[in-house]
Amino acid sequence: MTDGGLARYRIATIPGDGVGPEVVAAARRVVDAAGRQFGFTVEWTEIVAGGAAIDRYGVAIRPEDVQLCRASDAVLLGAVGGPKWSDPSASVRPEQALFALRGGLGLFANLRPVKVHPALVASSPLRPELLDGVDLLIVRELTGGIYFGERQEAADAPGDRRAVDTMPYGEEEIRRVVSLAIGLALKRRQRLVSVDKANVLATSRLWRKIVEELRWRAPDLEITHQLVDSCAMLLIKRPADFDVIVTENLFGDILSDEAAILAGSLGMLPSASLGERQTEHGRFGLYEPIHGSAPDIAGQDRANPIGTILSAAMMMFSSFRRTDVSGAIDAAVSRVLDDGWRTADIAEPRDHDGGLVVGTTAMATAVIEALETSDTRAGATP
Ligand code: IPM
Ligand code: MG
Repeated sequence: MTDGGLARYRIATIPGDGVGPEVVAAARRVVDAAGRQFGFTVEWTEIVAGGAAIDRYGVAIRPEDVQLCRASDAVLLGAVGGPKWSDPSASVRPEQALFALRGGLGLFANLRPVKVHPALVASSPLRPELLDGVDLLIVRELTGGIYFGERQEAADAPGDRRAVDTMPYGEEEIRRVVSLAIGLALKRRQRLVSVDKANVLATSRLWRKIVEELRWRAPDLEITHQLVDSCAMLLIKRPADFDVIVTENLFGDILSDEAAILAGSLGMLPSASLGERQTEHGRFGLYEPIHGSAPDIAGQDRANPIGTILSAAMMMFSSFRRTDVSGAIDAAVSRVLDDGWRTADIAEPRDHDGGLVVGTTAMATAVIEALETSDTRAGATP
């Protein structure tokens, strides 16, 4: 759709809970500024989900709101959850919104890129020399395995209690996410590590077979298998050795939090959840920072908006095929960090003296200024 010749993108936002509304508002401002600069407009829709929806509607997300997301070109999500709704045995929980969106929208691949910005090396607990050159991408299967398998809650009398989770995988579910990861690795440094627990799990043995069956598709790609426990160790010991990692849902959940530590702060990291569906502009997807709702700092203009801003850059790249815009946003964020701007989570004591420690809104403003004063060259994400 065009608007006086301008491309027009329909983006559904789910601000959610805690700091979610603040970081989504910040990223929206950056996208709107990019629109003025690159000549596109955005039709924003706002959807209530998570704890906010539990309070308002009694469910984590209403089916009609999942439908509204489906009807848009892309979804930008802040975070869901918080102490008010945190009882894990409650029948209605904020995370159910995530599962309804992932499952309902067919978002089977979750991409979590981890890059270490040179200026932030000191924020990571790892030694600087280990972080040199870290630039990896975790591709996590997102709609299968133990997250969606049959479950039986413990219902028997104390002493006899027993619960069951199951981890089913069909070959097509494995094939589509591994194929996507192969495609991404081919555009990066040509190295793919498939992570499993094939020495124990039947699903992992099937996973490995499918990876082997796909090998012919990319003869020049270096494809290796690694057991998840050893991968967890190597991510800390030699993180710069990794390029693309592909793995099943639960392993990906755990490894991606571990890898996030490399970048110094969870606040820095974006993610994209993609499915098969194409819109008129690109691949439909849901984009969100990987940090949670951080209720302790909610409403204080203290959250780092960079994870959400970089998620919006991933959205421009995948859902709108705008490498010019995604590259410009990525470059603007890098410049702001080079210039010394810091939110509290990435600030060192000496940054506070320089006066460049800012809140959510001012950080977004700094990114917008960097964007507006840059020359607009094409770049690449992720
Ligand atoms: C994530 C989160 C979710 C998950 C939680 C909130 C259910 O940890 O997106 O990684 O486990 O998938
Ligand atoms: Mg997680």
